Amino acid sequence: MTDIDARDQPADPRSAERLHRSGFDYRIIDTADAQATAAFLRAETRGFLDAEPTDESRDEMAGILQDRRNIGVFDGDDPLPIATVNSWVTPLTVPGGEVPMWAISSVTVSATHRRRGIARQLLEGELRAAATAGVPVAGLTVSEATIYGRYGFGAAIPVAQLTIDARRAGWGAPDASGRFAYVEKDELATVLGELHDRARTQRAGQIAGWPARWRRMAGQGPSDKGAAEVRGVVWRDDEGRPRGAVAYRLAEVEGEFRAQLQVRHLVADTDEGLRAMWSFLLHHDLVNRVSVDLRPVDDPVTWLVADQRAVTQRVHDHGWLRILDVPAALQARTYAGDDLEITVEVTDALGFAEGIWRVRVSGGTATVQATDAAPDVTLDVATLSSAYVGGVPLTQLAAAGRVHGDGAQIIAFSEALRSPEAPVLSIWY
Ligand SMILES: CC(C)(COP(=O)(O)OP(=O)(O)OC[C@H]1O[C@@H](n2cnc3c(N)ncnc32)[C@H](O)[C@@H]1OP(=O)(O)O)[C@@H](O)C(=O)NCCC(=O)NCCS
Repeated sequence: MTDIDARDQPADPRSAERLHRSGFDYRIIDTADAQATAAFLRAETRGFLDAEPTDESRDEMAGILQDRRNIGVFDGDDPLPIATVNSWVTPLTVPGGEVPMWAISSVTVSATHRRRGIARQLLEGELRAAATAGVPVAGLTVSEATIYGRYGFGAAIPVAQLTIDARRAGWGAPDASGRFAYVEKDELATVLGELHDRARTQRAGQIAGWPARWRRMAGQGPSDKGAAEVRGVVWRDDEGRPRGAVAYRLAEVEGEFRAQLQVRHLVADTDEGLRAMWSFLLHHDLVNRVSVDLRPVDDPVTWLVADQRAVTQRVHDHGWLRILDVPAALQARTYAGDDLEITVEVTDALGFAEGIWRVRVSGGTATVQATDAAPDVTLDVATLSSAYVGGVPLTQLAAAGRVHGDGAQIIAFSEALRSPEAPVLSIWY
């Protein structure tokens, strides 16, 4: 959907200059240089508190880095960067379509150099690079929910972690007529990727996956300690097409000869496929409990079981978005409800989205122009980003004191931003 390649963007000159003033060298890693790539990977794993990469895992991760724009910050002669970040451009599904998104990952600052403003230069540098490349939205998933609001990111795609008491749940839905089969890991990785590619366009919030991710989910990741325990099941419909798949592992419940079933990845591209997969998971013999994360908050499982109280749902923040170009972002999606005309003031400490914007929604699509009219509604860019794909109602953000202005216009805009189904992001990145 986009031919923008993050790797074409040079290192951001402003961040380079600021870090240079502190004695650091901020530069793009040449992924053709095996030693530089290995040093980046060692710094990244150290930053995320992981063990040193093995030769095998280094090869796998180096393959992923090839497709990304990787930046290291260096202190003196040390070949290991003291900070890392990488990025790539991916489609982000929005209601009614897709928008190019600047995905940011591998944000680490060495424990020896923390709290000296280095992460700020990494993040601001990424946002300037994305804006220069013409990418209207940036996104990330986060280790801590308190880090990225200051850069204009808002928690936009809440997801549900589900824990189901399988002995109590029962089943209250019709059985699917297709066929289940265990599949070997190679096939599992392929099917997970293919199903995700089809499913990701059906729900706002999703991004494209990549082959190494599916291999990892399927238990083929070289540094994955639980890999040997991963099993995969695919459900095919009556025409023989794969419509649902799950990668999971069973953890023994000590002394009971029973197990907890932990889902690694669950995907389906039809409602029937999803019902089939839930049926498989909840009917598995010798299982006390099924747990799965990164499900949409409107997952139908509560309505598939006989006893709703068997399902515990914990909703948590997952996908974070940051609008960089207000007209491009708002015009890329469709809108619900009645036609609407509203003047929205967006504040943005970094300037990208700052302005007063006249938003006209007609027939479900928007035109957005800068204006100097008095705003109906005022909010900051993180708040607009939280509401952007319809995962967080604007009225909820207003109730939290994050949106100001005309109450009726806030309700109308909130209604327009709604997504027909809850957005989801089934990937960590
Ligand atoms: C999180 C991390 C990248 C921060 O790097 P850093 O260089 O110390 O951050 P900075 O000095 O640039 O701090 C910038 C701002 O973020 C704040 N901040 C930094 N780390 C934070 C944290 N863990 N939680 C909350 N706020 C944090 C700082 O207080 C500072 O606030 P200010 O702008 O109000 O002054 C670094 O601690 C790290 O690598 N942690 C482990 C890996 C990780 O969690 N990475 C994030 C992956 S999503």
